[in-house]
Amino acid sequence: MGKLAKNTRLNLIMPYPAMIADELAVAIAQKHIHPGDLVLDPFVGTGRILAAAAQAGASGVGIDVNPLAVIVTNAKSVSGGQRRLRDFALELTRKRFPADSSGIRLLMGRRVEWFHPRTHRQIDYLKGQINRAKLPRAALTVVVAVFFATIREVSYCRKDQWKLHRLSKASRNAQRVDVKQTFLRRLSQVINSFEVPTHNLYKFRAVIGDSKRLSHVLSDQGVKFPIDCVVTSPPYGDSKSTVQYGGISQLCLEMAKGILGLKALDYCISGIDANCLGGKMSLDGKLYAIPKRIWAGDLCTSIGKRVAQYLDDMRSVCEQIVRVLKANGKIVFVVARRNVGGATLNLDLWFRSEFEKLGCTLIEWTTREIKRKLTPYLVVPKARSVSCETEMSAVPTMRKEYILVFSSPNHLTRASANFERPIPSRRQSRLPQ
Ligand SMILES: C[S@@+](CC[C@H](N)C(=O)[O-])C[C@H]1O[C@@H](n2cnc3c(N)ncnc32)[C@H](O)[C@@H]1O
Repeated sequence: MGKLAKNTRLNLIMPYPAMIADELAVAIAQKHIHPGDLVLDPFVGTGRILAAAAQAGASGVGIDVNPLAVIVTNAKSVSGGQRRLRDFALELTRKRFPADSSGIRLLMGRRVEWFHPRTHRQIDYLKGQINRAKLPRAALTVVVAVFFATIREVSYCRKDQWKLHRLSKASRNAQRVDVKQTFLRRLSQVINSFEVPTHNLYKFRAVIGDSKRLSHVLSDQGVKFPIDCVVTSPPYGDSKSTVQYGGISQLCLEMAKGILGLKALDYCISGIDANCLGGKMSLDGKLYAIPKRIWAGDLCTSIGKRVAQYLDDMRSVCEQIVRVLKANGKIVFVVARRNVGGATLNLDLWFRSEFEKLGCTLIEWTTREIKRKLTPYLVVPKARSVSCETEMSAVPTMRKEYILVFSSPNHLTRASANFERPIPSRRQSRLPQ
């Protein structure tokens, strides 16, 4: 294996909430992943960890409830098809996109227009061109990932945060974006990055699924257990009260409806946030005790119930992780402490105690300063309807990340803990297809 690259390929193909720092993903892969390992990321997002694992010679599988995340991850693992993509870009350069701006069309169920009418027509035209090109699946996956990034860029969304906030009226009026140019610029960046020689074939893929049912999701996909290593940066809370993976993803996915040939685009996209951890209240008044050193907030408030539900869901994921891992396999979690309901949720301490209860051993505990995670100081609370300009000063959202490394139980502890092996499915392959 050659020297590891500092960044993963296509790391900037599409911005996404709460992405792990790319250099951290590479550093973790360098240290903890060996060539030939099978790596699982149960909260794959845009697949930075899997891409770094692939650079270290591993193969990988990722799970996410969000179809957009899955498409973007799979676009990163595409290893050929540059020629078809280049031809498509060339064909598109010659096309004249609609320039008129007649008619306003609201998206289904939305009260606010997120695009200029001209932009809307250009997006429809682009979708028509994508369908006409009849691209093979790999190239289409890349094109759709670029399409998502284009949608975000040409929309009226504020680009500095992930909750769906609209640009101020002044910024909307000043916005001059062109769908064709934006799409072609992003596509050519991607095509150029294909030219850079890679160390390995990109052997990873992501699937849509709920990690609370992780072993079933993997079985259904024909992934053969055990997994060698689980590496992830999980959500730090339920999606509604943290970053909202759903809002902007849903907007991009809505706009991609009508592009033919990708199954992931057929998934029901309403309620991505509700499908995330802590999104559905199932504790139903059952008591969930949280030690004060983990979180000292009030469990009787609605925020307290959300925290409890999120932790209860996360506990199911931890149990499943230990089930699918080989004996003495590695678990690497990148987490942070965050303030919620007036108290700090010490996720690092919580994960430590949960994995230890499951028979795992903490083997490493390091911290890393976070420099660029900022939240705008002034967030317009009702941005969908309010149109005032906001101040752009920002405050740090989180200051530190904790990198926790555990070793899963060995055979003896496993036997005494009576771990069931998940039922293998009919189709089994060591490598994800
Ligand atoms: C912090 S992000 C991961 C970011 C990723 N490491 C990256 O660099 O792009 C957490 C991800 O967990 C996903 N998620 C939340 N709940 C989930 C669940 N129950 N099952 C699977 N994925 C879930 C969210 O959709 C989100 O993409």
